[in-house]
Amino acid sequence: MQAIVQSAYGAPETVLTHRTVARPEPKPDEVLVRVHASSLNFADVAMVTGRPSLIRAAMGLRRPRYTVPGRDLAGVVEAVGADVTDLAAGDEVYAEASAGSWAQYVAVRAKLVGRKPVNLSFAEAATLPLAAGTALDCVAGVRPGQKVLVNGASGGVGSFAVQAAKALGAEVTGVCSGRNVELVTNLGADHVVDYQRSDFTSGSTRYDLIIDLVGNRSLAAYRRALAPRGTLHLSGGGGGRVIGPMARLAQALVVNPFVSQRLRPVFATPSRAKLDRLRELAEAGSLTPAIERTYPLSDAPEAVRRLIAEHARGKTVLTVAQER
Ligand SMILES: NC(=O)c1ccc[n+]([C@@H]2O[C@H](COP(=O)([O-])OP(=O)(O)OC[C@H]3O[C@@H](n4cnc5c(N)ncnc54)[C@H](OP(=O)(O)O)[C@@H]3O)[C@@H](O)[C@H]2O)c1
Repeated sequence: MQAIVQSAYGAPETVLTHRTVARPEPKPDEVLVRVHASSLNFADVAMVTGRPSLIRAAMGLRRPRYTVPGRDLAGVVEAVGADVTDLAAGDEVYAEASAGSWAQYVAVRAKLVGRKPVNLSFAEAATLPLAAGTALDCVAGVRPGQKVLVNGASGGVGSFAVQAAKALGAEVTGVCSGRNVELVTNLGADHVVDYQRSDFTSGSTRYDLIIDLVGNRSLAAYRRALAPRGTLHLSGGGGGRVIGPMARLAQALVVNPFVSQRLRPVFATPSRAKLDRLRELAEAGSLTPAIERTYPLSDAPEAVRRLIAEHARGKTVLTVAQER
């Protein structure tokens, strides 16, 4: 099969190549999916570059343990492992794999595979698992009428967080650069703050929930913008080349017991239940992927290079040509 193979950590144009490799065999609890599309996430950039370095503790110290990168996917079940009874060949599915989705086929644990929303194309469905799944965790507990602010509203996670918070009845403020104000407005945000013109942490509005996807403000500044019993969900972003956002997340955990506000890191984990909830929201018209660009699989190195060089705007998709 055709796949993107990663030889080492580094610049995408250096370490990623488009090659022919052996098709994976599904283990008893896995399904083999014929991939139609994948999407790029900040996590993929970290896996390709090996930055922040802390990621290597999980992914392989000197070189990546996996051969083929890529997490998100949408496609059609080709075969199922001996223990899989609830999925069958021909099912249209989507999933977040631990790696391997930048390929024509990937084997994924069946319990992490969900049925694709019927109203979305494969390319659209492939944008959901990691980014919209994280957004879902970030809006957990939101009640109608609450004021929610999304810092990084125009990115992969942020574009879904705005929509997910709106679906829960919140009054949503999105923070983005001037070029993305129209995009974030179209996603449904009630208010948009252009961070190049004003700083939401020095305004008079107090938010019930701040979802931080950028990590560019101090904890004290976020707390200033929070209601006295408000919640800060920190999902990542910021930090140095070695430990990334971990110092900020640890600081939030240390300060949390001593303040009236709740300061919580969000570590999203994939599950079929989450994919089922995302499917419901997508089919109800509450989650619409904002796709910025689509590349063929062979152009994955350029797609990753561009994501590093420029700010993301919604989601970048890789489409996978099928074998004839
Ligand atoms: N904890 C988890 O489980 C989890 C899961 C997924 C992602 N994450 C983390 O969440 C973060 C966002 O991920 P993503 O995939 O959404 O990234 P992304 O697609 O690259 O989006 C980042 C967005 O941040 C915006 N941005 C940059 N500087 C900003 C600023 N000063 N103020 C406000 N917005 C700014 C950019 O928009 P503009 O061009 O408009 O500036 C861009 O759209 C990453 O750090 C990622 O590691 C965590």
